[in-house]
Amino acid sequence: MLGSLSSKIHDEERQGEAYQPGVAGKKEFRKKFYIESYGCQMNFSDSEIVASILNENGFGATANYTEADLVLLNTCSIREKAEQTVRNRLHIFRQVKVSRPGMLIGVLGCMAERLKEKFLEEEKLVDLVVGPDAYRTLPGLVEEAESGQKAVNVLLSRDETYADISPVRLDSNGVTAFVSIMRGCNNMCSFCVVPFTRGRERSRDAGSIVRECIDLFERGYREVTLLGQNVDSYYWMDETAGQVVTFALLLEKVALIDPLLRVRFSTSHPKDITDEVLLTMQRYENICRYIHLPVQSGSTRILQLMNRTYTREWYRAKVDRILSVLPDCGLSTDIITGFCTETEEDHQDTMSLMQYARYDMSYMFFYSERPGTLAARRYADDVPEEVKKRRLDEVVRLQNRLSLEKNKEDVGKTFVVLIEGDSKKSAADWRGRSTQNKVIVFPKTGSTRQKGDYVPVKIEDCTGATLLGRIVE
Ligand code: 5AD
Ligand code: SF4
Repeated sequence: MLGSLSSKIHDEERQGEAYQPGVAGKKEFRKKFYIESYGCQMNFSDSEIVASILNENGFGATANYTEADLVLLNTCSIREKAEQTVRNRLHIFRQVKVSRPGMLIGVLGCMAERLKEKFLEEEKLVDLVVGPDAYRTLPGLVEEAESGQKAVNVLLSRDETYADISPVRLDSNGVTAFVSIMRGCNNMCSFCVVPFTRGRERSRDAGSIVRECIDLFERGYREVTLLGQNVDSYYWMDETAGQVVTFALLLEKVALIDPLLRVRFSTSHPKDITDEVLLTMQRYENICRYIHLPVQSGSTRILQLMNRTYTREWYRAKVDRILSVLPDCGLSTDIITGFCTETEEDHQDTMSLMQYARYDMSYMFFYSERPGTLAARRYADDVPEEVKKRRLDEVVRLQNRLSLEKNKEDVGKTFVVLIEGDSKKSAADWRGRSTQNKVIVFPKTGSTRQKGDYVPVKIEDCTGATLLGRIVE
């Protein structure tokens, strides 16, 4: 699964970011929509598809929900907490609706299926509910809702990939963009709700992916992140070329667009990432030296209960292989603490595996039982909450130590940084990333560099989260 985060995919779920309207394009908009997104990068990417569909249908974006005709929440259901957050937001929107009765409120995304009855019928909190595969029907559903009908479409599809829709880049820095290459997931990790909320896995037409990346490059973007719940199982039969496009081949096609276009991807399942992918990365300097490889747990017994289909030893061997092909590769992971039956020994196995892999960064969570998942049906959620949280705290502290250690090793080295914009703290500094996905901040110091440029930066200092350096001319 996914996050950004700024280019993390699989972010810990991002919390309700409103979309800032950019250039509205040349179209005339009769009405205004507001959209707020939660969850993984895939969900943020979907909001860009929704924006495109709405633009085509006369809706322009606003960053202010009090003036919107249509207010949308694109929801996530990966953990329980997200549900309460969404409910609170919906109550706030309802208050605006009291003085603006024509305003429509909609729930999109992963919560749609599960909560449609509650939100729409029992609590009458929303006017429309639309699942992740039904966004093309949104304009029709808005019309239905306008005429006072209940507007719902939560059908999942076997083939919808929105391949032909050009996403409207929301909240973009104009340098980095996410490109969805597949949807859904066929893995059955026992803790995960995604196969239920997003349906079966399907790959998007390779030609449309490459065209979208070319278009982004021509518009000045310099980095694309190819997104999917499990990118390594990408598969497209290109009938005209009589060619099977695997993920490795897709990576190559995108890398060949231009050496100045950086290519990233997320997320890889350790069981599926192939040597072919690693060797393709090795061949192209513009495919970034960074792999997000969710481990979830370091205990073979827990991995088995999670249905991850690899062992601790197998994962370690995968890390070894990655580092032997790509010695300078950055690594990050996802970890869940307190999964069903997890003992202190299992937890120590997770900690020792973290030390083995020496992740640059991790997204860490405590286990949250999700209705309908394999684990919810088969296993008792038997680790007390305080134990889950204490273990999470230990994992977070270990990761902070590892991140700082790894960053300290970078002091004195020089990295090519793609400038993404001003640093968050000061407009006198640039902020960008190395190929390993590390955030690097450095003074502009009278140089004529711009957003989207590549610059060599020598690292002089660091925190656990950021490298600090200086341009070397
Ligand atoms: N509880 C806690 N964390 C979860 N994740 C997925 N499902 C759950 C759950 N039920 C985490 C996994 C996944 C990331 C996106 O979210 O680590 O890789
Ligand atoms: Fe993304 Fe949906 Fe999973 Fe949340 S539940 S992380 S939005 S796929």
